Amino acid sequence: MQDKIKAIEQEIEHFEVKDKESLEQFRLAFVNRKSKVADLFNYMRDVPNEEKKSMGQLLNGLKQLAEAKFKAEQDRLMQLQSSDSSRHEDLTLPPMPGTEGGLHPITVVKNRFVDIFERMGFNVSEGPEIEDDWHNFTALNFPENHPAREMQDTFFIEKNPDIALRTHTSSVQVRVMENAKPPIRTLSPGRVFRNEAISARAHCVFHQMEGLYINKGVSFKDLKDTLYHFAKEMFHKDTKVRFRPSYFPFTEPSAEMDISCQICGGKGCNICKHSGWVEIGGAGMVDPNVLKNCGIDPEEYTGFAFGMGIERIAMLKYQIKDLRLFTENDVRFLEQFRHLS
Ligand code: DAH
Repeated sequence: MQDKIKAIEQEIEHFEVKDKESLEQFRLAFVNRKSKVADLFNYMRDVPNEEKKSMGQLLNGLKQLAEAKFKAEQDRLMQLQSSDSSRHEDLTLPPMPGTEGGLHPITVVKNRFVDIFERMGFNVSEGPEIEDDWHNFTALNFPENHPAREMQDTFFIEKNPDIALRTHTSSVQVRVMENAKPPIRTLSPGRVFRNEAISARAHCVFHQMEGLYINKGVSFKDLKDTLYHFAKEMFHKDTKVRFRPSYFPFTEPSAEMDISCQICGGKGCNICKHSGWVEIGGAGMVDPNVLKNCGIDPEEYTGFAFGMGIERIAMLKYQIKDLRLFTENDVRFLEQFRHLS
């Protein structure tokens, strides 16, 4: 009897509970009413009286051992199971809505711009945000001390007046013209900087899209055709365009480009100051001096250029009334553009 108890004790100790099934096997073997342990109690009647007490104690010890192990293993399995189910998500559930990011409206407009012009054979060129005087001004026909430089409230570097934060991406056109031979069709998107107080209508950092086409025989008609096409693609096929004479040092003739107000459709509202038109940028035929400065023969080639503010276009397209929203990164604002990405 004592040997049997010892043997079962060993069995209990070595029994490995791995899962629910083996726990059940353990229960049937050692805890159940018909288990090996319960069975031993039937043999108690054959034990001589003087040994009954000590044998009873041994047997009860065995029973407690089996029950304690059963309880401990059961708890362990339950704990495992609950941490397991939190680790294995239900892969059939639909994804949580609203956790995905999207493109910034400035990026959306920039991409659309690039799409429209890529189909007309334009490539994309980029340049440095910290520029020298030559690329930002002098090559673009801004004579030194010319008042036109004042138009562009420039951030200069205090220690070196030759270095500034670029005030327009026209500087990238200079870099392209210096390094490539016509025909040139390029679009230059990028950040530009001007010393302006921040308000709903002005910011010291914004984005421009500059376009340049240089080839033999490029005319003002090409400029108008291209920008008409752009306006209809970017906004709406019924969008109207008009050009007003203007002045830029780097183009001659120069024009400012208006489109029919996207809010009132040209009837007049407070966004277009009741004129029916809103300005979206400048344009013109590249001044022969600029071509010469960049190593292109103005007798052989002509070209047109234009520059637009990307924020401005986004504001008109999505009816955004405050420029500051673009840089505040308020998710309530950004979320509204997620579907456009
Ligand atoms: N660079 C001008 C500005 O920032 C915009 C501009 C006007 C660019 C006419 C051009 C252009 O290329 O032809 O105000």
